[in-house]
Amino acid sequence: MTTKPRRITRRTVLKAGLVGVPATAVPAGGGVGWWWASSDLNTFGEVEFGRSLTIPPLADSHLDGEGRRVFELTAQAGTTELRPGIVSDTWGFNGGYLGPTLRAARGEQVLINVHNDLDEATTVHWHGMHLPARMDGGPHQMVDPGESWSPTWTVDQPAATLWYHPHPHGETREHVNQGLAGLFILDDPGAETSGLPSNYGVDDIPVIVQDRSIDDSGDLRTGNIGDTVLVNGTYGPFLDVTTEAVRLRLLNGSNSRVYSFGFSDDRDFDVIGSDGGLLSAPVERQRLALSPGERAEIVVWMQPGEVVVLRSYEPDLGVNWFTDVFDGGKDRLDLLELRAADTLDPSAPLPAALATAPALMTITDDDVTVNRRFELRGNTINGRSMDMGRIDEVVEVDTTEIWVVTNTDGEYHNFHVHDVQFQILDINDAPPPAEFAGWKDTVFVQPGDTARLVMRFTDHTDPDVPYMFHCHRLRHEDRGMMGQFVVVEPSQGVAQADQPERGDHGHDH
Ligand code: C2O
Ligand code: CU
Ligand code: CU
Repeated sequence: MTTKPRRITRRTVLKAGLVGVPATAVPAGGGVGWWWASSDLNTFGEVEFGRSLTIPPLADSHLDGEGRRVFELTAQAGTTELRPGIVSDTWGFNGGYLGPTLRAARGEQVLINVHNDLDEATTVHWHGMHLPARMDGGPHQMVDPGESWSPTWTVDQPAATLWYHPHPHGETREHVNQGLAGLFILDDPGAETSGLPSNYGVDDIPVIVQDRSIDDSGDLRTGNIGDTVLVNGTYGPFLDVTTEAVRLRLLNGSNSRVYSFGFSDDRDFDVIGSDGGLLSAPVERQRLALSPGERAEIVVWMQPGEVVVLRSYEPDLGVNWFTDVFDGGKDRLDLLELRAADTLDPSAPLPAALATAPALMTITDDDVTVNRRFELRGNTINGRSMDMGRIDEVVEVDTTEIWVVTNTDGEYHNFHVHDVQFQILDINDAPPPAEFAGWKDTVFVQPGDTARLVMRFTDHTDPDVPYMFHCHRLRHEDRGMMGQFVVVEPSQGVAQADQPERGDHGHDH
């Protein structure tokens, strides 16, 4: 199969609309609305799936003399044909675009030799990982060109689909947009749930979804949303399915776009995992929305010989109509075609109970020591823009905290916390939908919404090196919608702490 030469772009759709409708058809006062309404991106049925989905290879590793699992990761420049027939200058880890899938087990100590072969400084952040702040790869752990950085930590969290990407302050969007990102899969041998598809690349498939804006010369632009949608860097991808059940590890690796995943025939699928691990039980859904940085694991069942397309339906952004169109709220995108073989290997039915781990945190009044409030507005959090030299929040170890995140803006945001996996207590006083009731590190917050997050800080104290919290729309993050927190022993003072007097820092009980 070949890819259709015609590529649906926002521009061509718009132009066609303008030519096709006489000016008199534009209602008075509605000209702008019509103009934008014409620019929706709709690729349903338009994508010819002509390329086999690239499966990022599992990264090689070895055990060193101290029993540490050692990986090599080199950020480098390359070229990649992202749009058919158009070669782009790209960045990748150990290759031209994206990076290998790192995989390690709970209890293992990992050591990752990060080499920077780019001609500018970058970092590598382990999104979703519980680890010491100085190993986190945030904006304070820059790796200069030609230099290396070798973080090491012991994996101490449930099985999950995490990811890694650069985090240089003000440059994250640029670096991720060029292709620097990859998955980091964690296994939990002691608590393995049997019966889940788990043959990597066969019935356990990484699905990194990114929209890109690529001009005719191949330049990767950093717009708000892009009109070329790639899965694992593949344009118009198909996947040959050989088993009855397929597990898709979905990562919204986009800069800003929200996807509402579903299938072309509206079939049900089972959501089995969220950002930080398996759910307690499968949740049957027809749609699943993920904002930038969020992950989910789903299982879809196939019949022999059938073809079905993973799509993104119009996501509910909760914004006004103008912003909605501008941010892709009306877009319909074909993503990945699943092609089932004529005979399929049988798959075990999904276990009724998935994880013993993510039992909801039980919160008693005694547990909760601190409430913090975070107001998202403009490119600020609590009215402040990111300052590398300012610690915004000081967290005492061995506390349970409730972070109350409110979006008082007209735009959608999300909220990502480093170091910990949290659970969503409620959104606007209602419990979260079941697919978001497990471990999370990023939560979508629509305009006017308030999400209450509960999290525990158990270890890795360091008064000198902060973790980040931020909006994961990368343009917002780069423009300062980020803050810093440290985790300290009760006795530790933090010299540079700049904590405004706010009543909401008080102890509740
Ligand atoms: Cu995915 Cu602070 O990052
Ligand atoms: Cu992160
Ligand atoms: Cu934002």
